Amino acid sequence: MINVFQPALGKEELDRIEKVFDSNWIGKGKLVDDFEETFAAHLGSTKSRVLTTNCCSEGLFSSMHLCGIQPGDEVILPTISFVGAGNAVCANGSKMVLCDVDRRTLNARAEDIEKVITPKTKAILLLHFGGIPCDMDSIMALADAYHLKVIEDCAAGVCSTYKGKAVGTFGDMGMWSFDAMKILVCGDGAALHFRDEELRERAEKWLYFGLETKSGYENSVAQKWWEFDISSFGHRAVMNDLTAAIALEQYKKLPMFMQKRAAVHRFYDEALGDLEWLDLPEPIPADCTTSYYFYHVQTKNGKRDQLAKFLRDHDIYTTYRYYPLHRVPGYGVTGKFENADYAADNTLCLPMHQSLSLEDTERVVEAIRQFGKQYC
Ligand SMILES: Cc1ncc(COP(=O)(O)O)c(C=O)c1O
Repeated sequence: MINVFQPALGKEELDRIEKVFDSNWIGKGKLVDDFEETFAAHLGSTKSRVLTTNCCSEGLFSSMHLCGIQPGDEVILPTISFVGAGNAVCANGSKMVLCDVDRRTLNARAEDIEKVITPKTKAILLLHFGGIPCDMDSIMALADAYHLKVIEDCAAGVCSTYKGKAVGTFGDMGMWSFDAMKILVCGDGAALHFRDEELRERAEKWLYFGLETKSGYENSVAQKWWEFDISSFGHRAVMNDLTAAIALEQYKKLPMFMQKRAAVHRFYDEALGDLEWLDLPEPIPADCTTSYYFYHVQTKNGKRDQLAKFLRDHDIYTTYRYYPLHRVPGYGVTGKFENADYAADNTLCLPMHQSLSLEDTERVVEAIRQFGKQYC
């Protein structure tokens, strides 16, 4: 079976884990610190604005509290969003307001967002679909005009930039996932970026019970270091030195991962470009970069599901991301989202990961062409 997504881990990660075992410290420690420093530099930012946590979903949930979003406030998100984004808003008691997206990039545009702004709107929870950068100039201008907070879900945008600046560093908060199916993986883990350093400080406490003092040896209280105070009823959501060890090794491989993914992307572009029944991903603007997380095609003949089944029967696994939130009965949101509906009914994510061989990609292309000959 050719997987749709797949991590690439090796001996380097294992060796680093062994060192962590030897150190006798597997909790949050120096390696987490090192990874925060490394990732902050990667973003072109500073450690004073970057914090790790145990998963990107935690970042989504915590963003509500950290950005001061209250129950009853409206939060706008593209209907094509990760389920954790919807849950984060609803669990906060806030109102999830959905907007439509561009039918080809599946990203929300300023014009989609502006249509659903009301006096109660407090924030935009933006998704950079598959790491494709949203148009941040127009979205940030809109957010400024209406005094809205911007939270950027860049779960898959580990190397994505907009006009030379890392996505996730435009808004009040940005977040990246390092879960098992992403590009840089560590099992579970995430990085958060804060435009405001003071918010990062509050977030650090929030993600550790709201503790005002550090625990154990790090506590500066000379006597009775077990006493503490809290500033909020915070969570406990941190990375640890085991996951950070993996992340640090994966980070070294990131340029190679990007090269490989770009090569797969190019190969599909060239090998499928002549199929009239299929739309390929739109080129990224010259002043932006993507992370090549998805290679999403769109059938023009309504045969997406048939194509997915045909490929699965040929041992090629594909999927569609993300099921629109307005179709999830549990959210109880209705409305017209024509582009999102089109995308949800016609988009298919082809196998895309850094371990795909030329033979694998040739097999994918061959099977798609065969499907075309038989059914299109
Ligand atoms: C767009 C998006 N946001 C957030 C997440 C959550 O990431 P995590 O698994 O690290 O919680 C995911 C995970 O698939 C995602 O795809």
